[in-house]
Amino acid sequence: MQRAGQRGGSQLCGTVARNGPFRQFRRELMGTVRHIIESQQFDREYLSTLFERAHAFSEQGKSRELAGFTMASLFYEPSTRTRFSFEAAMYRLGGNVITTENAREFSSLAKGESLEDTIRIISGYVDLIVMRHNEIGAAKRAAEISPVPIINGGDGAGQHPTQALLDLYTLFRKFNRLDGLRVAMVGDLRYGRTVRSLAYLLSKYDNVELIFVAPPVCQMHEDIKDFLSGKSVNWREESDLDAVLPHIDSVYMTRIQKERFHDQQEFKQANNAYRLTRENVSKMAQEAIILHPLPRVGEIDPAVDNDHRAMYFEQARNGLWIRMALIQQLLTGDRN
Ligand code: CP
Repeated sequence: MQRAGQRGGSQLCGTVARNGPFRQFRRELMGTVRHIIESQQFDREYLSTLFERAHAFSEQGKSRELAGFTMASLFYEPSTRTRFSFEAAMYRLGGNVITTENAREFSSLAKGESLEDTIRIISGYVDLIVMRHNEIGAAKRAAEISPVPIINGGDGAGQHPTQALLDLYTLFRKFNRLDGLRVAMVGDLRYGRTVRSLAYLLSKYDNVELIFVAPPVCQMHEDIKDFLSGKSVNWREESDLDAVLPHIDSVYMTRIQKERFHDQQEFKQANNAYRLTRENVSKMAQEAIILHPLPRVGEIDPAVDNDHRAMYFEQARNGLWIRMALIQQLLTGDRN
């Protein structure tokens, strides 16, 4: 395994080796620059390797192997977990972070600059860009012109692939398998990008069963359902959460995304439709787990937090290890 500090056994100092022709040479060694845009891009082998690396980081905690590398975090939408965990991950790998508060207001977008021009400029300063944007497809547009890797930290109601990676990793840590899991996705399946990305990832495993439980105005989009049917994934829609809870390995709760509703009447119809309480959680199997990408705004009663099945805070913590593994893999090409 070749580590960042050992590239080619070079005696060059890190600063020189990471710039100019040396940086280009490193990219050629790694093959084409890779980006993290959507969950469909991963295969099972990649995921297994990533989880091994994440697990190693969860035990190791820190590393210095990316000393001298810089990551930009460019968030056009609010974030607590994604932004902070990516930034913490980069620091824990020994790298640096540059960022802006609220890129919609404080980047030159506010003066009319295009996303493409912003990416052209920032990519000249850093080795990696993690971005969140309000428009579906924004990360893909950035990746098409960026010479450095782009990580999609969420593009509108499109996808949130790194959230899905940490969700899947949390399931794997708990069950030590991914084949055969029965997962209920609950809440805003219409605007929730995390459920879309997770559905794509789970479709890669055998005999997975997905149950979609959503208010009528928040049903899962046809593109995901068609994709799952095309892959012969067993999925169905249910409306009675209490009837579903006893028969699943995991319930994946989501927030109704008020900010994405154009029609506030529709939001009112969807809001508070499904809620986990101590009472309905008691119907779940003892080994089952409760996940949520967070933030929550009422769909899980805080009284559930002490239940041994509540894993959403550990899930968020797992994001740190997954993001360390992802950054390390992108910047060193290390699949081992
Ligand atoms: N799960 C998630 O994406 O959280 P943030 O919006 O806080 O980043």
